[in-house]
Amino acid sequence: MTTRSGLLPTPPMVPGLPLLGSMLEWQRDHAGFFQRAYERYGPVFSVRLGPQRGVVLVGPDYHDFFFKEVDKRLSVPELYRFVVPMFGDVALASRDPETRRRHVGLLHSAFQGQRLSAYSRLAAEETHAWLDGLGGSGRFELWREMEGLVMRIAASTLLGPEVRARVDDFRPLLADLARGMDFVLPPYLPLPKFIRRDQARRRLTEMIKPVLAERRRRVDGPPDFLQTLVHDPGVGGESDERLIGMSLMTLFTGYLTTCAQLAWALVLLVQHPAHLATVVAEVDAACAGDGRVPVEARLPRLDRALKEAIRLRPVMSHYARHNRTDIEVDGYRLPAGWLTMLCPAVAHRLPEVFTDPDRYDPERFAPDRAEDRRHPYALIGFSGGFYRCPGSAFGMNEMRIVIAALLARFRLVAPAVEPVPAFDMGVTRPASPCMMDYRLRD
Ligand code: HEM
Repeated sequence: MTTRSGLLPTPPMVPGLPLLGSMLEWQRDHAGFFQRAYERYGPVFSVRLGPQRGVVLVGPDYHDFFFKEVDKRLSVPELYRFVVPMFGDVALASRDPETRRRHVGLLHSAFQGQRLSAYSRLAAEETHAWLDGLGGSGRFELWREMEGLVMRIAASTLLGPEVRARVDDFRPLLADLARGMDFVLPPYLPLPKFIRRDQARRRLTEMIKPVLAERRRRVDGPPDFLQTLVHDPGVGGESDERLIGMSLMTLFTGYLTTCAQLAWALVLLVQHPAHLATVVAEVDAACAGDGRVPVEARLPRLDRALKEAIRLRPVMSHYARHNRTDIEVDGYRLPAGWLTMLCPAVAHRLPEVFTDPDRYDPERFAPDRAEDRRHPYALIGFSGGFYRCPGSAFGMNEMRIVIAALLARFRLVAPAVEPVPAFDMGVTRPASPCMMDYRLRD
């Protein structure tokens, strides 16, 4: 790939409707829309989603370019304008580069080392409480259960026991906040959904403010993200509103992506009995005397199944950055004001990167094959570069903990109907209903 200057044409445009462009087709099936465009136009093509135009780049060399150009010719905050009414001017939505750097730095350090271990122990407790409530056998709706469990884990690990105890009040408010998310309309129009969004934000702030005040007083508070935030030397002194916004943004981003990815990982594993059997054997070997898998257990076969789910079913349809200037790539001009976009679902199925790419084959990540190491940006389910997901290790731990605990206790039966993707609150997840039968193992 080359980047150079000179007046050049823009990449071929996927034809669309007046005003809407390809919005409807994209909304129906994100990955399918990008895949069809890639097959027709190749690795560099233009799209129009409503009023916004963008260029999609497909392939690991382009990923490298995209991640390296961020905060140079490609810019982030313009893209996250829609989260400002929800969470305020925080993290990657902040227009101030110094604030972005400080907040993103805090996020990266908050999900490592002993803090990560503490969050993982809390996640395991929540998982076992959920399993205890399932009884000996039955049937659950995959998304409903995963969403509920991951929400409880997120409330307890990020906001602490006080908010966890009120999770049933907290959840509908977060849903109102999410329903007010709009990528197109001006965010402060007097529409009912925006009014409900603003009310929800005020009530969430009221709920968390006393907890925050208590945390500021205590240096030995519970081991959750809020505690980390208020005692961080770089960020802890910022206003209550900002810290609350940051914790809600982290919770919102981390919880939706994790429950969607977890649902895909579980369903794909259960649909593939041969790999499932090897994972169950690995889980059984790791079980302690109480029949539980220790949170620090190494489970490489399960980890490979998680990676394969991230490859085949990445939960985010695309990553986008705003072009600050005209950028020229491979004989094309990417105009200032357009977006530059990556699409993990298409890039993860390139045959030149992944062998037999449509096949579910977690062992492609085994050390002797290591297909993801063929390029530093072959697998981009957690994005890359400076804005790579700061919660990736925690997200992996959560998925590992939940699936290992489920398999240690129950035999699961694959859903009778092949799950199709549904797009919901910014992530792609298995459509409901996706019913899974379970029965206690002998
Ligand atoms: C399997 C689970 C997860 C997946 C697939 C995932 C994926 C991603 C991706 C792709 C991005 C970057 C989007 C972009 O470049 O535009 C991102 C950002 C982010 N993720 Fe995750 N994530 C997961 C779990 C988590 C968890 C558990 C947390 C925290 C509890 C978290 C917190 C965040 C935050 C705060 C950001 C914004 C980053 C910033 O401000 O720089 N994520 N995630």
